[in-house]
Amino acid sequence: MKTWQYLLGGLVVIGIAVQFVPNELPPVQTSNPGDLIGSGIVEEPMANILKSACYDCHSNETNYPWYSHVAPVSWLVAKDTREGREEVNFSNWQDLELLDQLAILDDISSEVSEEHMPMPIYTWIHPEAKLDENQRQQILTWAETTMDRLVEEE
Ligand code: HEC
Repeated sequence: MKTWQYLLGGLVVIGIAVQFVPNELPPVQTSNPGDLIGSGIVEEPMANILKSACYDCHSNETNYPWYSHVAPVSWLVAKDTREGREEVNFSNWQDLELLDQLAILDDISSEVSEEHMPMPIYTWIHPEAKLDENQRQQILTWAETTMDRLVEEE
């Protein structure tokens, strides 16, 4: 055999072997009574934007495509989903204190206006999640008016 054949064979063996490392994708939970969208502060167009651009990493309702189960992609997806849910989990929205909800809305405003969120690696694979200027503006307006509304209702 030629050297390149050994190398290729080695890569295939490694590629198969890593599939046996547990992927640790955070579990999916479809029933979330405390969810943001069910809480009455998100109207229809905004709900769709958040679902398609943010919910994979910031809710318990992650939609894992087939390749997200294949190592090493699975390790990256597991890490972003775990860390995303730790920072902000829209599925637990109604369990949060008012101050935490306000802080999250404020963070959403800055992350989205600075185009840090959704993560670029994500929109590269999910072009439908990319926000245009109009959608970004809609999120900012929603976050601002919701902050005012929550404070007034208190
Ligand atoms: C691919 C996964 C992914 C997607 C999609 C995603 N996020 Fe995130 N988000 C993360 C991760 C990971 C973190 C924590 C690390 C960081 O701040 O970069 C985070 C952090 C945040 C934070 C907290 C930032 C801080 O430092 O306080 C906010 C707010 C946020 N995301 C909002 C959003 C919004 C709004 C969307 C949709 C428009 C979105 N994210 C889409 C993965 C994601």
